[in-house]
Amino acid sequence: MRNRIRRSLPFVVGLVGLAIAMAIVLQPRVLPQNALDPEGPFARQLDRLWDPVFGIAVFVFFLVQGLIIFAVMRFKEKPGDRPRQVHGNSKFELGWTVAPAVLLAFVGFATVGTLIDLARDPEPDALQVRVTGHQWWWEYEYQYEDASQNFTTANELYIPTGRNVQLTLTSSDVIHNYWPPKLAGKLYAIPGREAEMTIEADQPGVYYGQCAEFCGLSHANMRLRVIAQDDAAYAAWEGDQRRPATVPAAENVTTADAAEGYELFQTKGCQGCHAVEGQFNGRIGPDLTHFQDRRTFAGAIFENNPSNLRRWLRNAPAEKQGSIMPNLNLSEEEITSLIAYLETLD
Ligand code: CUA
Repeated sequence: MRNRIRRSLPFVVGLVGLAIAMAIVLQPRVLPQNALDPEGPFARQLDRLWDPVFGIAVFVFFLVQGLIIFAVMRFKEKPGDRPRQVHGNSKFELGWTVAPAVLLAFVGFATVGTLIDLARDPEPDALQVRVTGHQWWWEYEYQYEDASQNFTTANELYIPTGRNVQLTLTSSDVIHNYWPPKLAGKLYAIPGREAEMTIEADQPGVYYGQCAEFCGLSHANMRLRVIAQDDAAYAAWEGDQRRPATVPAAENVTTADAAEGYELFQTKGCQGCHAVEGQFNGRIGPDLTHFQDRRTFAGAIFENNPSNLRRWLRNAPAEKQGSIMPNLNLSEEEITSLIAYLETLD
């Protein structure tokens, strides 16, 4: 009896695990990165492919497991019983060759059809954004026919709803993978290469995503958000991004601290890595021109607020393993000034 319990333990554990997994899957609301709950046409196409393929997989699973259990019970060894020895069975052999071939052909045609569909050129009015993966954050360059309209931002991708957005993916260092599960499939961002994918959101909202390819120490901290807005809100945001930053000095100084922070930004070397349109041209870290417009920073892992900024400026690598931004050994007063300066970047 005890042996029988011990033997059935893995089976019971498996069943409980399966039940928990099902319970989680059936609650899409608590899963902001659930690819099975698409919220845009391209992600929906993938989900539509997934449904029948999963159905086939479930059918095959229960068929095969059922046959195994049947065979184990029915043909269990009995004392003094020697099974009949057979060789070959054309009917079975033909069956288990043709049936999988038919199923796989269906899966193959459906998959290739979806791939071709997803690779189609986007609508001509598609917004164009060049996405560059960095260890460990995302850079977005909004690109327009008139290049003087272009601007750059980081981690949070703002898009208008109901419109195609074509992303051109690349990387500045190692291979990353861009994945906003509710809006699109995942695609590699590879140094020296460009790959295109189109995304679209039906409704305004915040869609979570992350880098989906191991890319070093802080791979797990390389997150992203897609923020979809209706046309008016998006147009306002877009107009804002094109405005250069005002220098917090002399006539337009907001507070003494901000002017001090502006100086520190140069003397501490921040400007060597960060761009602020109209002020600095660093290209290694995120462009900070409209930093105050962002809800998050550092690979979208921190809410953008003064206390998180303070922690980050105190010792960036301690907050995010392997961070290229070094610990600058700033004093608390210097940090206060730098935060005051960052607050002018709205
Ligand atoms: Cu970038 Cu993982």
